[in-house]
Amino acid sequence: MEKIRLAAISAFGLEAIVKRELDELGYENVTTDNGWMYFDAEIKDIPRTNINLRCADRVMLVMGQFQVYSFEELFDKTYELPWEKWIARDGKFTVKGKSVKSKLYSTPDCQSIVKKAISKKLCEEYDVEWMPETGAEFTVQISIHKDIATLSIDTTGAREGLFKRGYREKSLEAPLKETMAASLVKLSFWNKDRVLYDPMCGSGTIAIEAALIGRNIAPGLNRSFAAQRWPVVKEEYWKSAKTEARKKIDLNSDIKIYASDISKKAIEIAKENAIEAGVDDCIEFFVKDVMNIREPMCPNGVLITNPPYGERIGETVDIQKIHKKLGQVFGRDKTWSVYVITSVESLEKDFGRKADRKRKLFNGAVRVDYYQFFGEKPIRNRD
Ligand SMILES: C[S@@+](CC[C@H](N)C(=O)[O-])C[C@H]1O[C@@H](n2cnc3c(N)ncnc32)[C@H](O)[C@@H]1O
Repeated sequence: MEKIRLAAISAFGLEAIVKRELDELGYENVTTDNGWMYFDAEIKDIPRTNINLRCADRVMLVMGQFQVYSFEELFDKTYELPWEKWIARDGKFTVKGKSVKSKLYSTPDCQSIVKKAISKKLCEEYDVEWMPETGAEFTVQISIHKDIATLSIDTTGAREGLFKRGYREKSLEAPLKETMAASLVKLSFWNKDRVLYDPMCGSGTIAIEAALIGRNIAPGLNRSFAAQRWPVVKEEYWKSAKTEARKKIDLNSDIKIYASDISKKAIEIAKENAIEAGVDDCIEFFVKDVMNIREPMCPNGVLITNPPYGERIGETVDIQKIHKKLGQVFGRDKTWSVYVITSVESLEKDFGRKADRKRKLFNGAVRVDYYQFFGEKPIRNRD
């Protein structure tokens, strides 16, 4: 089988979790560089990784990597790569780019040179004067970092990264990306034998992603990907990746996830999303103001939540009261672990305890912290 090189791109701070996912899928020798996790693969791994990765943003096909100091060099080295192997005769290709700390710093110029070099190569290979660009979409990316250029093609789809699972038809203000919600669950010590609770669930993303993890349902089973229209990535590869993923689904475990919100509308939307994702049997939704919670519903639970915060929604004073309440109810119960993602810097003070671990992340463009307050290890399972 022919070897190719793929790279899973992760958001800042989530590299280790994406690497862990790749390890679990059996990919060895994963190397990390600047948010890109490179690994050796075969063509059939394009469907496999796109369908199974929960926390990565997208999967790139790495065409080549080289040092570059001039536009002539960029043109020649781009031209040398085997674009005709991937981009079909009618392929529609656009070039995106970025350049950091490099001699070739003008991104628009780099993009246009790469486009010209690929066009020239394809026209010669296909013996045409110009490429009609009416067919499948190929988004080429040129990333130059410290004078090392990486040329890749986006196998996931430029418009719809892996966060798009297909279940969240409706959402409210400030929803978390599905990839971020899955990462928060993966970063916690939650497993399907423990109760999970999100008391400010909004459109239900954390609860739904946890249920998908608990049921072992691959996140990409209900969506399409750019590479599905590429002739080289055969239909049979997609079919067998889906069959493999479906075989792993666990419909028998008794999963207990609770999700509530002060907003009735949010709970209606969250329920619809859970039905769409096929995990509504794992989640109990209810309307509740956090401020009215008196005690945890059971011992040994894991609370993961994304309260409203300043830059997005909510009032600072209320937020501090909510954080205090979380500390009073769940922070004082030694059997509960509490995980909060927020940009509000007074969280630890309001919660009443220093976090056991704090992880710097970005929720979109907003710099946030993921505060982790560990509870005691459960002695027995949920009961
Ligand atoms: C940032 S949003 C959560 C978004 C959610 N993670 C998602 O992906 O859709 C915060 C949520 O907290 C809810 N909320 C605000 N104050 C609350 C309170 N006192 N009790 C319960 N929920 C509250 C809001 O209605 C909103 O849905």
